[in-house]
Amino acid sequence: MSADRLAQLQQALEERAAQQLLRRPVTLQHYNGRLLTVAGSSFINFSGNDYLGIATEPQVLQAFADGAMQFGAGSSGSPLVTGQHAVHQQLCDSLCHWLDVERVLLFSSGFAANQAMLLTLSSKNDSLLLDKLSHASLIDAARHSDATLKRFAHNDQTALHTLLSQAQQPMVVTEGVFSMDGDSPDLPAMLKLCQQFNAPLLLDDAHGLGVLGPEGIGTAAAQGVKPGDLYCTMANFGKALGVGGAFLAGSKTVIDYIEQFGRHYIYSTALPPALCAAVIKSIELCRSQNWRREKLHSNIALFRALAADLPVLPSDTAIQGLLLGSSERAVAASAQLKQAGIWLSAIRPPTVPQGSARLRITLSAQHTEQDIRQLVQQLRQLV
Ligand SMILES: Cc1ncc(COP(=O)(O)O)c(C=O)c1O
Repeated sequence: MSADRLAQLQQALEERAAQQLLRRPVTLQHYNGRLLTVAGSSFINFSGNDYLGIATEPQVLQAFADGAMQFGAGSSGSPLVTGQHAVHQQLCDSLCHWLDVERVLLFSSGFAANQAMLLTLSSKNDSLLLDKLSHASLIDAARHSDATLKRFAHNDQTALHTLLSQAQQPMVVTEGVFSMDGDSPDLPAMLKLCQQFNAPLLLDDAHGLGVLGPEGIGTAAAQGVKPGDLYCTMANFGKALGVGGAFLAGSKTVIDYIEQFGRHYIYSTALPPALCAAVIKSIELCRSQNWRREKLHSNIALFRALAADLPVLPSDTAIQGLLLGSSERAVAASAQLKQAGIWLSAIRPPTVPQGSARLRITLSAQHTEQDIRQLVQQLRQLV
C-alpha cells in the first residue's frame, strides 16, 4: 500500500473536518417515522423522506415478511438471468396502471436509475441541459455520458430558452420537486419550450411521486402534463412509498431500449422480490388513503403559516429549507435543535451551493400540530 496515497486521503479528510463538512451516519436505535431514538435520546424527526408515514405501516411490513417467506430473501440474479420473479412483474403492472404509462423498468436505487436514464438515452452528438440544482445522481450521469453537459439557472425558462437555441440535439432534464429547495419547475411551460426545439423532456420525480397529483401520481399530473409528453421519468420507492429501489417509466420503445442497452439494469442484481411485494402494498395504500396526502398538505400549510416571518425558501411541498448561510451556523443550529428534542440535519456544501448551508425541514403526515408548533418555536429562537 502506498504511504503517499494514504497521506493524501488523510489530508483530504482533515481539510473536510476543518471546514465543518465531515458527515457520518447516525445509528438509529429505534425509528417509527415521526420519532427516532439515537444514543438513548428520543427526537421528533424532521429529516426523513417518509412523507406519508408508510415506512412503518404494519400492512407494508407484513407484505415484506410474507414476500420473504414466499420468494426468499434476495433475487440472486440479474433480471435478465434468473432475478425476475412474478412479483417483479406484478409491481411493474401496478406502476403502469397507477401512472398510466406503457412500460416501466425496476432498479435497485434512484441513483442507478438516473445513471441508466441519462447514459443510455443520450449519445455523443446530444446536449444534456440540466437545471443548476439537479441532484448529484443526474449531474454524475450527465458527466459520465458521451453527451455534452450544459446547466441552466434554477427553474429559469429564459436561460433554458437560450441554451436550447444554441445546443446541438438538446435533451432537457429537470426534477418534479427539487430535493433541497422543495420547489418545482413550471412543467407545462417547459414542455412547450422543449416541443418548440424538438427536445425530449426527462423528469426525476423522486419527491413528487406519492405526494402530488391525484392518487399521488406525481408532479407532472399535478401540473396537467400527460405521462406520454415526457420522454422518460425516474421515481423511487424509498421516499413517499417508504421502501427502497426505483423505476424508469416511459413509452414501450424507450423502456425496451433501456432494457437492452442500460448497463445499470443488465449488470446488476434485481430488487429483492420481498421488497417488490412491500412496494405493491405501499402503492395500494398510497392510492387509496388520500387522508395521508391531506394530512401532509395541512401540515405544510400550518408550517408555512407559523413560519411566515422566518427565512424559509418558497415551497409548498413537504421540503422546506431554512437558509442559514455558513456551514458553521447550520451545524450549530442543528445541534441546538437536538438539545430541544428535534432531529433536523444540517445540509452543507457540496450537497448545496457554497454559502447556502441550511436546515432541510421535511414534513410528514405523521407530524402532529404540536410537533410543528414546537419546531417553529425552536426555529424562531435560532434565527
Ligand atoms: C432528486 C433525487 N433523485 C435521485 C435520488 C436517488 O434516489 P435513491 O435514494 O433511491 O438512490 C434522490 C435521493 O437521494 C433524490 O433526492
